[in-house]
Amino acid sequence: MSTGKYKPQYPRVAQLKTAEDLSDHLLKEGIEMGFDKELKTGANSPFAKTHTTRAGNSIGNAFCILPMEGWDGTTDGKPTELTKRRWKNFAISGAKLLWGCEAVAVQPAGRANPNQLMINEKNLGDFEELYQLVKREHETAFGNSDDLLTGLQLTHSGRFCKPNSKTKMEPKILYSHPVLNKKFGLAEDYPLMTDGEISELIDAYVIAAVRAQKTGYKFVDIKHCHGYLGHEFLSAYDREGKYGKSLENRTRFIREITAGIRAEAPGLEIGVRMSIFDWMPFKQGPEGTGIPATEAPYKYAFGGDESGQGEDLSESFQFLKELENLDIELLCTTAGSPYYNPHIQRPALFPPSDGYMPPEDPLHGVARQISAVSKVKKAFPNFYTVGSGYSYLQEWLPNVAQNVLDAGKADSIGLGRMVLSYPELPADVLEGTPMKRAKICRTFSDCTTAPRNGMISGCFPLDPFYKKMEIHETLKTIKAS
Ligand SMILES: Cc1cc2nc3c(=O)[nH]c(=O)nc-3n(C[C@H](O)[C@H](O)[C@H](O)COP(=O)(O)O)c2cc1C
Ligand code: SF4
Repeated sequence: MSTGKYKPQYPRVAQLKTAEDLSDHLLKEGIEMGFDKELKTGANSPFAKTHTTRAGNSIGNAFCILPMEGWDGTTDGKPTELTKRRWKNFAISGAKLLWGCEAVAVQPAGRANPNQLMINEKNLGDFEELYQLVKREHETAFGNSDDLLTGLQLTHSGRFCKPNSKTKMEPKILYSHPVLNKKFGLAEDYPLMTDGEISELIDAYVIAAVRAQKTGYKFVDIKHCHGYLGHEFLSAYDREGKYGKSLENRTRFIREITAGIRAEAPGLEIGVRMSIFDWMPFKQGPEGTGIPATEAPYKYAFGGDESGQGEDLSESFQFLKELENLDIELLCTTAGSPYYNPHIQRPALFPPSDGYMPPEDPLHGVARQISAVSKVKKAFPNFYTVGSGYSYLQEWLPNVAQNVLDAGKADSIGLGRMVLSYPELPADVLEGTPMKRAKICRTFSDCTTAPRNGMISGCFPLDPFYKKMEIHETLKTIKAS
C-alpha cells in the first residue's frame, strides 16, 4: 500500500493489540479516553438502544452514518451511479440514522464543487429515487425500514464555493477574515454577502426543505459546521447589520430558516450539524508538521478560546440554547474544518495532500471531540446527540464507542470514513461478529486527497471497487510526489 513519502511518527493503532497496550499508550500520551475491554451483545449492547424523537420518528439503534459527499454528481446536481452506490452502502450498513446523507446545495452558487448534488425542481425525481433506494435496500437487508431515519443535509459552502470549476474558488463570505482571506487568496476588501442575498438564501433553504419533505426525507440538517456558510455566521463578530456582532444577530440565520420551515413544511423534523468548537487555522511547518498559521489572541474560533488551540464552549452552549428554544432535537456534533485545521476535524495518521503531518497523536483529536460532546450532552440532555471523529480508533472503535454510550456521553456514534472502507461495520458490531481487519479504515486520507486534486472521492486503498480504477494510479503518483 502506497502511503507516499510520509513516515508516521506515532504508533499505529493496529500495533496497540491488547487492552493493556492501549491503556499504556493513552497514559503515556496523557489522553483521557475510556474504553471497554469486552463488547456487550444483544439487547444488553448500548448500540442496540432505540429512540423515538419528539416529532415521532423512530431510530432503531445507536449508529449514525455521517454525511459524506463523493464529488460525483452530474454538473446539474443529480446523483450518478457512484452516488447511488455510496447511498446504498449507507443503507445496508445496519445504522438506523442516516444523517444527511451528503451535503446538498440549496443554490447553484453555493456548491462546494461543480459535481455537488443540488436540490431543485428539475432534480426532485432523482432525490425521491435516492430516498426510495435507501429504504428499499435497507428493507432487503434488515426486513423493514420503519425505524430507519433518513434526512438530507442542506448546505451553502460560503467561503469554500467552487460552483463552476474544480480549480476556481468563487467564495461567498460574511466578513473579512484576516487569516482565511489571505490563505485562500482573497483581498481584504473582497465583497461580502449582502443582507438581501442572505434573505434570498434563507428562502432557498426553506424551498429546499419543502422539496426534501415532498421527496420523502424525514428531516433536514441546517449545516453549521466545517467553515461553511452556516458556521461562518457564528463567528461573524465583525459583520455590520442584522447578521453580525451580537450573538442574537449571529444566530438569526438558523432562527429565520427554522421559522420558514415550520410554516412551509409542517411535520418535517429539523436537525443541526455543528462544529461545537473550532481552532485557529493550521499550516505546514518547516518539517511538514502542522503549526498554527497565526498568533494568539485569535477571536474567530467559535467554541474556542483566545489561544486558538483550546475550547471555550460558552458561546456554543448559548447557540445550543437557541436550538432548544427552537424545539430542535437532532444534533450532530463535529469540530473545526477540513480546510484549515483537518487534524481537529478528522484525526488521521496520513495527511491529505493539502494538509500537514499531524502535530499530535491523532488519538488526542478523537478524545477532544468525545470530551466536548460529553460536556454538551451533560448540559443539554434533551438533544439526541451524535458524536463524530471515531474512525481513527480503528480496531478499538466499538470498545471506545460502547463506553461513550454507556456513560451517556453521546446518544449515537457517527461513522464517517470507516463506513467508506467498511460499510457493514454497524451490522457486524450489533451481531457480535468480529471486525474484518482488512476493511478497517487506516486514515490514509485518499478520500480527501482525491477530491482536493479534482477527482471523485472514495476509499481507493481498501474498497476493491475504487482500488481497480485507473485514477487510483494517478492518485498514487500525486501522493508519491
Ligand atoms: C470524503 C468525505 C466527505 C465528507 N463530506 C461531508 C459532508 O458532505 N458533510 C459533512 O457534514 N461532513 C462531511 N465529511 C465529514 C464527515 O462527516 C466526518 O465528520 C469526518 O469524516 C470525521 O468522522 P470519521 O472520523 O468517522 O471519518 C466528509 C468526510 C469525508 C472523509
Ligand atoms: S481512503 Fe479509505 S482508508 Fe483512507 S481515510 Fe478514506 S476511508 Fe479511510
